[in-house]
Amino acid sequence: MTQHDVQSPSHGDQLIQPEPGRQNGSRPWPVIVTRHLVKTYVLGETNVHALRSVSLKVYPGEFVAIMGPSGSGKSSFMNLIGCLDHPTSGDYFLAGMPVSRLRPDDLADIRNRRIGFVFQSFNLLVRDTALTNVMLPMMYAGFSGKEQERRARRALQLVGLGDRISHLPTQLSGGEQQRVAIARALVNSPSLLLADEPTGNLDSRTSLEIMAVLQSLNVRGITIIIVTHNPEVAAYTRRQVEMRDGRIVSDKPVAAMRSAQADWSAVVKSNSAPGGMQIQEETP
Ligand SMILES: Nc1ncnc2c1ncn2[C@@H]1O[C@H](COP(=O)(O)OP(=O)(O)OP(=O)(O)O)[C@@H](O)[C@H]1O
Ligand SMILES: [Mg+2]
Repeated sequence: MTQHDVQSPSHGDQLIQPEPGRQNGSRPWPVIVTRHLVKTYVLGETNVHALRSVSLKVYPGEFVAIMGPSGSGKSSFMNLIGCLDHPTSGDYFLAGMPVSRLRPDDLADIRNRRIGFVFQSFNLLVRDTALTNVMLPMMYAGFSGKEQERRARRALQLVGLGDRISHLPTQLSGGEQQRVAIARALVNSPSLLLADEPTGNLDSRTSLEIMAVLQSLNVRGITIIIVTHNPEVAAYTRRQVEMRDGRIVSDKPVAAMRSAQADWSAVVKSNSAPGGMQIQEETP
């Protein structure tokens, strides 16, 4: 195991920006509000009811696990809240903005600026280095080449890969590849990170590594929603939402969130493996 330090961004150089605005009391505005979201796929003569009326609010700084059996609508829901697809009916507000009423250009803009995506299959370009992969989302963001590189280095440092920037994906472990994908998702300073089965292709120890990175990012203030079918992975989040047959059937806080870094360290210790993972946690 390679040591990785997740480093604190310097002042004025924050990859993660706070959510704007608060309601009259002390509670901030939700980052996500969905009301009766319905998604029906039409396949020839057949209608597939993927989402049957999903209403959910997610507040800034939350770390939510969407769980449920295969086919229950988890990815369909993530695609809608990630503005990658349109609902059949229902409303969706992202940071207070009614997504369904935005023009396609504005939607693309809000998606690029506000949302980072991480997928099960890391989706890295195999012929490009970690650095180039992370620079990719900034190509159209109007930054100079120098600024792109500076931000990409910073994001890679944040996920503990500052010493792997010139590696190709084939020269990285599965966990490291997923960390490159997380750095790529962070590089445009989104306030929301969406991850669909981010540990689905990883063994349990590497899953811990990824959950430790996600927990450290959440502690820094980024709102995270992950899809997982694995209760052990969901135990590292703060809230568990269970879907079944296109509906939310339970939504509850995690009573005592486990520390992925502590569990990872315990696994390493019991295996007497070399190395260590130190994630510097900060209060937001
Ligand atoms: N593009 C599509 N066209 C038609 N039907 C679809 C499409 N995408 C998903 N579905 C159907 O919608 C339902 C919900 O699928 P979805 O991918 O959201 O489930 P999931 O909870 O993410 O499952 P998994 O855990 O297997 O990833 C399933 O019945 C699926 O077959
Ligand atoms: Mg899915």
